[in-house]
Amino acid sequence: SRLAKPSTVTFIVSRSFCKSSQAWQSPKVAVLGAGGGIGQPLSLLLKNSAKIASLSLYDIAHTPGVAADLSHIDTRAHVTGHLGPASLEACLTDASVVLIPAGVPRKPGMTRDDLFNTNAGIVRDLVSAIGDFCPKAMICIITNPVNSTVPIAAEVLKKKGVYDPRRLFGVTTLDIVRSNAFVAEAKELDVSKLNVPVMGGHSGVTIIPVISQANPSVSFPPEERKKLSERIQNAGTEVVEAKAGAGSATLSMAYAASRFTFSLLEAMAGGEGQVECAYVQSEETDAAFFSTPLLLGKNGVEKNLGRGKLIDYEMQLLDAAMPELKKNIQAGVDFVNKS
Ligand code: NAD
Ligand code: LMR
Repeated sequence: SRLAKPSTVTFIVSRSFCKSSQAWQSPKVAVLGAGGGIGQPLSLLLKNSAKIASLSLYDIAHTPGVAADLSHIDTRAHVTGHLGPASLEACLTDASVVLIPAGVPRKPGMTRDDLFNTNAGIVRDLVSAIGDFCPKAMICIITNPVNSTVPIAAEVLKKKGVYDPRRLFGVTTLDIVRSNAFVAEAKELDVSKLNVPVMGGHSGVTIIPVISQANPSVSFPPEERKKLSERIQNAGTEVVEAKAGAGSATLSMAYAASRFTFSLLEAMAGGEGQVECAYVQSEETDAAFFSTPLLLGKNGVEKNLGRGKLIDYEMQLLDAAMPELKKNIQAGVDFVNKS
């Protein structure tokens, strides 16, 4: 009969799904700031994935509608919406991954640092709730200024005695997505097969594109390498200016954060060889936090793969990054400990 066919298809699909490394996992992913410019498309991309069993959406606005809308999509994840601080416990309990895109974005003329005064407190309070309700969750911070909000999160978790540096990430994937896109375009390469690491932090001069470690390798005359590197460093501003007051990157950021989340979930489920750059506690330089390629595993960062060999130009970028990066980190640490 016409009715029998779909159920046969469903049976075959679920059998083949059982062979994947995700088969017996039921991860709950929470998005804090799910009603916003990043939060909404990010939640859509997560809902579209069979890796996620439960998707928990929190914000101080819009989440009842966003959750109702997404819950009608016929994919695996069970969607719940949570509005306001009193609902954080229900949102976070049993979450294994928490993504934080809550907070204000830039307008033209602003630096990411100009967001500190508003966003520092938002991240502090949300991470405090994570420490209370799901202290073992992987925490992925998108809120700017990432260079400072990640140290803020670390200090909050330390105070609660639940800090595990392997489980706290500043999401810098958008920098890698951009460097892949721009280098592939310049060299007319298949972007799906290109990986160009970006290290350091996530603002202005602290963003260190490492084009010399592109895989497959690419070569540029020095002037072109400089221009491309500067475009990668300024790409966030390129979007802020194009949006002309309506915010910063949201769609590409949602894509980037979903890519990072899927790599993390795959690694947590035992999948091998998941490597992503992210801004984490690090001993690679004398800045306490630094982004390099990381091998991800069941408990988050399994191995920091390090910064590898940098060419002279990239060493200059590193030198230029360090004072700003260290200042941003200190501002985050002081915010929690001196306020
Ligand atoms: P947006 O204003 O569109 O959305 C932010 C959302 O956060 C809103 O829905 C708002 O209600 C919510 N929010 C505010 N305070 C909150 C609180 N206390 N608890 C929960 N939710 C709260 O902004 P956006 O464009 O989605 O950007 C969000 C943040 O992400 C900004 O700080 C932006 O700079 C940053 N960002 C980071 C990257 C990156 O690469 N890491 C890229 C793009 C944007
Ligand atoms: C980006 O890189 O697009 C984000 O950090 C947002 C911004 O303010 O540039």
